[in-house]
Amino acid sequence: MTLISIGGGIIQDITGFVASTLYRGINWIYVPTTLLAQADSCIGSKTSLNYQRYKNLIGTFFPPTKIYIHTGFLATLEPEDFYSGLGEVIKLYMMGGASTTAALIGEIKEIKQRDDAALLKAIREVLTIKLQYIQEDEFDTGRRNLLNFGHCLGHALESTTNFAIPHGQAVLIGIMFANIIARTRGLMSHARYEFLNRELILDNIHVKRDGLSLNTQEIFQAMKMDKKRVGEGLALIMLRDDYSMTRVQDLHYDELIRGIQELAQTVEIPTHP
Ligand SMILES: NC(=O)c1ccc[n+]([C@@H]2O[C@H](COP(=O)([O-])OP(=O)(O)OC[C@H]3O[C@@H](n4cnc5c(N)ncnc54)[C@H](O)[C@@H]3O)[C@@H](O)[C@H]2O)c1
Ligand SMILES: [Zn+2]
Repeated sequence: MTLISIGGGIIQDITGFVASTLYRGINWIYVPTTLLAQADSCIGSKTSLNYQRYKNLIGTFFPPTKIYIHTGFLATLEPEDFYSGLGEVIKLYMMGGASTTAALIGEIKEIKQRDDAALLKAIREVLTIKLQYIQEDEFDTGRRNLLNFGHCLGHALESTTNFAIPHGQAVLIGIMFANIIARTRGLMSHARYEFLNRELILDNIHVKRDGLSLNTQEIFQAMKMDKKRVGEGLALIMLRDDYSMTRVQDLHYDELIRGIQELAQTVEIPTHP
């Protein structure tokens, strides 16, 4: 018995979970149809369901036996879904290092025009980068965790705005937050911070600002819920000036609040009154 599933990340999460539990696991083939699913979520074997207000609370590791990627699907994506996927694309290129980041800066215009060749090249590139982080860490214990770059704040932004900020966009905003903290801790230079904002981040934040605000108290509470967190501080994954990555567990309340205030000003989303 084989389950064939065609759709975006949500369809993937649900059908993958069903395939992993039906008869204790049946073959499944996945055809991703969104940029986020083609460029990121289709590999990594994770299936997950949200429960009540908790994201990805229920899930399994269960890869599809085959994945077919056709960039033609992306022509019909709504801009907000396209930009959500683009957030994860930018994340992975940055995690690939200085040379892949420079390559993306050269190619992002064609990617945003949804040029098929540019999209296919980008998807190949980011899946290769993602694989490098996953290899030898299939069950998410160490290096693979760095793929959560941008997600520490990102997940909190999604849940505290009742998912008004799409996943990949929350990740991109989360990356800017991580860069602010990296800069204030002296891990990233001002020049690198400004460069990444100018070339890759600011122009690619496309969220509906109407009625949107960042509730710092709720964000703090949501970040404390992080299932991988240990100890007193909050976890944060940061990019250093040389594009190497680090994960800390000592982000404190005051630093979080100051970081969110700067972030809110830079992305022009108000904080909660
Ligand atoms: N399992 C994982 O490893 C993993 C990783 C990252 C994200 N996710 C999850 O994936 C979800 C986001 O995925 P997504 O961005 O693919 O969103 P999605 O699956 O919600 O799809 C977004 C929208 O696009 C529509 N759509 C899908 N394909 C289309 C096409 N070709 N043309 C026009 N419209 C199309 C869908 O109907 C939906 O309205 C989040 O819930 C996130 O948590 C899972
Ligand atoms: Zn993600």
